[in-house]
Amino acid sequence: MVEVKPDSTGKTGEGEMVYRVNCAACHGLERQGTATANYPSLISVSDKYTRKGILDLINTGRGFMPSFKHLQEQKKDDLISFLMGQRINPGLRQEGTGKDAGISPYTHTGYNRFTDQNGYPGVKPPWGIISAIDLNKGTILWQVPLGNMLN
Ligand code: HEC
Repeated sequence: MVEVKPDSTGKTGEGEMVYRVNCAACHGLERQGTATANYPSLISVSDKYTRKGILDLINTGRGFMPSFKHLQEQKKDDLISFLMGQRINPGLRQEGTGKDAGISPYTHTGYNRFTDQNGYPGVKPPWGIISAIDLNKGTILWQVPLGNMLN
């Protein structure tokens, strides 16, 4: 979890706040996407879409991306400006963001795997098990660990 707040230099505009709260979980805090989960990078989205194109996509959603029609029009506008690389000075807007606007001041950085320094799952093995189930009784007859640590 990371805190969502404008930095003291004012570099984080309104649109970026909206992005962090609503979009970063899938598209990444730095808009890099999550390749392992098929969440596309949005870094050069301005080469591919017009403002209207992004707005339509935000409103309708697509595939595994949900609709964000419920966002205020002004927030969508700021968000699109951020995605298109057009910054808005946070001082120019009256309405609050984050805590003030009733939005959680925290967001998560994506669906990251919890691994150790070698890339193995960060929980105690075994990480896979073969189970034989007695379908008449609904009980487990036996279990053995499955898999190895060589990739
Ligand atoms: C639950 C995960 C999820 C969230 C949250 C999410 N997206 Fe997406 N987004 C996706 C997926 C998956 C796709 C690919 C959809 C497809 O083409 O099937 C996508 C595609 C896109 C695309 C098109 C990218 C391209 O290269 O064609 C844009 C633009 C986009 N999202 C913007 C946003 C914005 C803005 C937000 C926040 C308001 C957002 N997304 C939130 C999952 C998400």
